Amino acid sequence: MTESNESPPRKSVTRERIDELVHSLSIEERAALTGAIDAWHPAGAPSIGLKPMLTLDGPNGVRRVTFPEGSSATCTPCGTGLGATWDVALVAQVAKRIGFEAKRAGVDYMLGPVINLVRSPLGGRVFESYSEDPVLAAKLGAAYVAGMQSQDVAACPKHFVGNDSETRRTTVNCIIDERTLREVYLVPFEAAAGAGAWSMMAAYNRVNGVHCTGNQELVGGILRDEWGWDGVLMSDWHATNDTLEVMTGLDLEMPGPAKQLGPHLATAVRRGEVDEGTLNRAAARILTLAARTGALREGAPDATAEAGGAATRAPEGSTPVLLSDPEGAALVRRAAAESFVLLSNHDDILPLATADLRRVAVVGPNAATPCIQGGGAAHIDAPYAVSPVEGMRAALPPSVEVVHEPGPGIDLFLPPLTRMGLTDLEGQPGLTVEWWAGQEPVGRPIARYNVPSSTLHMFGDLPVGVAQDNFFARLSARFTPEMDGPHKIAMRGLGGQRFFVDGKLGADQWAAPAGVDIPTALFEGREHGAAFELEAGRPVLVVAEAHSVSNDPSLMALGCAAPAATDLMAAAVAAAASADVAIVVVGNDEAWETEGRDRKTVTLPGRQNELVERVAAANHRTIVVVNAGCPMHLPWADEVAAIIYAWLPGQEFGHALADVLLGIAEPGGRLPVTIARRAVDYPAYDLTPGPNEVLEYREGVNIGYRAFDAAGVEPRFPFGHGLGYTTFEFESLELASEGRAPGEPLELRIRLRNTGSRPGKEVVQVYVADLESSVPRPQRELKGFSVVRLAPGEVAELAMALEDRDLAYWDTAHHSWRIEPGRFEVAVGRSSRDISLRREFELS
Ligand code: BGC
Repeated sequence: MTESNESPPRKSVTRERIDELVHSLSIEERAALTGAIDAWHPAGAPSIGLKPMLTLDGPNGVRRVTFPEGSSATCTPCGTGLGATWDVALVAQVAKRIGFEAKRAGVDYMLGPVINLVRSPLGGRVFESYSEDPVLAAKLGAAYVAGMQSQDVAACPKHFVGNDSETRRTTVNCIIDERTLREVYLVPFEAAAGAGAWSMMAAYNRVNGVHCTGNQELVGGILRDEWGWDGVLMSDWHATNDTLEVMTGLDLEMPGPAKQLGPHLATAVRRGEVDEGTLNRAAARILTLAARTGALREGAPDATAEAGGAATRAPEGSTPVLLSDPEGAALVRRAAAESFVLLSNHDDILPLATADLRRVAVVGPNAATPCIQGGGAAHIDAPYAVSPVEGMRAALPPSVEVVHEPGPGIDLFLPPLTRMGLTDLEGQPGLTVEWWAGQEPVGRPIARYNVPSSTLHMFGDLPVGVAQDNFFARLSARFTPEMDGPHKIAMRGLGGQRFFVDGKLGADQWAAPAGVDIPTALFEGREHGAAFELEAGRPVLVVAEAHSVSNDPSLMALGCAAPAATDLMAAAVAAAASADVAIVVVGNDEAWETEGRDRKTVTLPGRQNELVERVAAANHRTIVVVNAGCPMHLPWADEVAAIIYAWLPGQEFGHALADVLLGIAEPGGRLPVTIARRAVDYPAYDLTPGPNEVLEYREGVNIGYRAFDAAGVEPRFPFGHGLGYTTFEFESLELASEGRAPGEPLELRIRLRNTGSRPGKEVVQVYVADLESSVPRPQRELKGFSVVRLAPGEVAELAMALEDRDLAYWDTAHHSWRIEPGRFEVAVGRSSRDISLRREFELS
């Protein structure tokens, strides 16, 4: 892209006025803008009416904005779920909804979408990304940006670039060749710049030896100079390495207090190490973003008064902000159904005919404890999570009995203590948390309230009067065991902590240092604990304590495993055997799918494969629902009647699933990733960096399905695959001409008919191949797609056009895009392996 992506600031603040405002500030005030005052607020500038903006995660909803109550924002399907919709308009609508809620909560700046790619199925944050395909990720990412920013909330596509895995993410050195960067990993960011994203986030990792926060080639050269992008480049949390990174185009260091920019930048400018023009440019970009969001209000009486120092905290006694509402719920219910991919449907078992049902078994670990979202920064306080069991019970008439058995568990860590049923010190469900300023619990606590979860994050949103670097916190709860016998109780977390059961020490990590890579330590964790002999019905007091001596994040998470009561596997199989249909809900949980840790295997955790096989052997009408945000191994795929891939579908999971199982809605999803038969078939798998932290992107441009095509390997389910409840036929594909000169768009016309008896959705996929290339190119690359909804018998005529870039490859000799004359093929179909029509054309 050669044209400039600069767009004028909104709210009638002209570029000239921004420059005047920059010059009205001292060097120190300008530099302060490049740092933050706390975990979530970039600094303001009261003299010009700029309040400290509030920035929050993203991307599948608005993270907690009030404390301690939580904000209950609408929880949408995860990235791969949205990717599976292939629906640009729907993704824009979902982002608009999140932007609307963000605005209501006073958030100026949302940290998403994630437009890194699904390189390996093991990536911890695969669930946050859209796809393995750069064009699908680019189009959906651009749609998200537009939807979010329509609400005057900045979008922040992340993480620029090559942050496609989590293992040692702050030190890893991703070796990605020039052509692969251009044709694959930069594509979504180029589209985001083109869509006018007001911000982007620079990643933790290094690319070709240099950290992304200060990578001259990528940031200074490509993002700024070549793409002409004028948005704010912020660092990922704690990702900065050097004050001089500002010179490559980094503008904002997060979180505060700043370690490299902010006051350190002022010093560097005063010393002549950084020129003032660089400082002014960063300040101008930040003010431009603030003007676009409405945070910059010249003449506002006192910008600090409404600033956010307190905006993440609810004043004492205030009502928590409820951001979600029925409209948001209806949208995410529809989006979830649109994301569900029907992978197989033998004998058209789906949709289920309600009239034939008497007893339905909904079994498996995720049937009643669904995983609606992933873990880490993306986790939000959802108002509720409708489980598959609840969804089916609500949708089926009372005459149909819905039975449930969980089967064996899948917990990576001990199950959260809250799952055991706890009461706080006042006898209410949950736990009591108390806070003191300083290192000891001296006197009355500063704050005391109930929390619903035995996992307590202590970062950025602490009660008023409690400093991040000097507090003592205590979590207390009474736990009444249901069983006699040894209970394993353990704690994991970050920072100094310990716990006691009825006064007996369970673990002592009081002197634990903060992790070197704080975010990884936050999400990775190691459990420390002991076995306690407990009696059924006799309550014990569990007390966990933490203290902090630094500004680093702290976390306490308490878990407990009770002795197993029954043979959970046998009970689940028996429930399935006695039902008319068995729905097995398998998958991951938030500990398995999280920021900060890559997985080691694509095998479903615990004994889930055995569960599916035994249920399928007991009931030939077995439908498997996979509740995972990443590709998992499905070795039993040929043994079950139907499979639905449901991703991490957000708060309306159960309702949306019942809609699809009962045929109230179509399963609208198509795979945005390839699901392999064998782990070794994935072009990239293990994500552990080698010597010197090197992680080589050896597969080059052959990411995902392109590698399966190149190797001639049959995937279990190909990229783009997904069935519906009706049938479609591609009737014709016409090219406007059989030849084409560079610079002219090539027009295609595609005719498609719904040949079935139900209304339905098809995703028309257009792939291009260069048949006579002088360099090895993928056998086919997705270049366009369109969602079509047709009534029975209805016909659609779609017009699409291929541009130069759709035919080009990156020529490393000339460092530019190149289109070679010769024969090309356009292939149209319903997956990368199910091509209905092909046409060739000649490029002169
Ligand atoms: C993540 C970002 C996130 C930031 C703030 C980091 O650990 O990588 O995606 O926006 O934290 O929560």
